[in-house]
Amino acid sequence: MEQKVLSNGVEVPAQIMLRYLLQQDIVIIPKSAHTERIQENTDVFDFTLTAEEMAELKKLDTGIPMIGNAEDPERVESAAKW
Ligand SMILES: NC(=O)c1ccc[n+]([C@@H]2O[C@H](COP(=O)([O-])OP(=O)(O)OC[C@H]3O[C@@H](n4cnc5c(N)ncnc54)[C@H](OP(=O)(O)O)[C@@H]3O)[C@@H](O)[C@H]2O)c1
Repeated sequence: MEQKVLSNGVEVPAQIMLRYLLQQDIVIIPKSAHTERIQENTDVFDFTLTAEEMAELKKLDTGIPMIGNAEDPERVESAAKW
């Protein structure tokens, strides 16, 4: 995927995705073993995604759950072993 810089200058993909979830009132629990990333993941409360940016990100949603997709036997098996 092409990396874009938002209208407010933010360009770290993880921050953009965390903010995308937060703006939908979805609770996030970011975890990282790297100090720099922990800081990045915390630093998401001083910018806002525009409605247009939210709509662009929404287009990336394939509608396929990462886990628990009962219609995909491979996913069910990998989730059971997780
Ligand atoms: N997933 C669940 O269903 C679940 C349920 C209950 C509780 N939890 C808890 O929620 C927390 C997170 O769980 P998780 O399953 O989401 O974690 P995870 O997938 O095990 O770890 C997060 C991954 O994202 C990477 N990452 C984090 N920040 C990043 C950044 N800024 N840029 C690029 N990569 C980044 C980390 O890599 P690096 O470490 O290399 O940075 C790591 O590989 C954990 O404490 C877990 O115990 C999760």
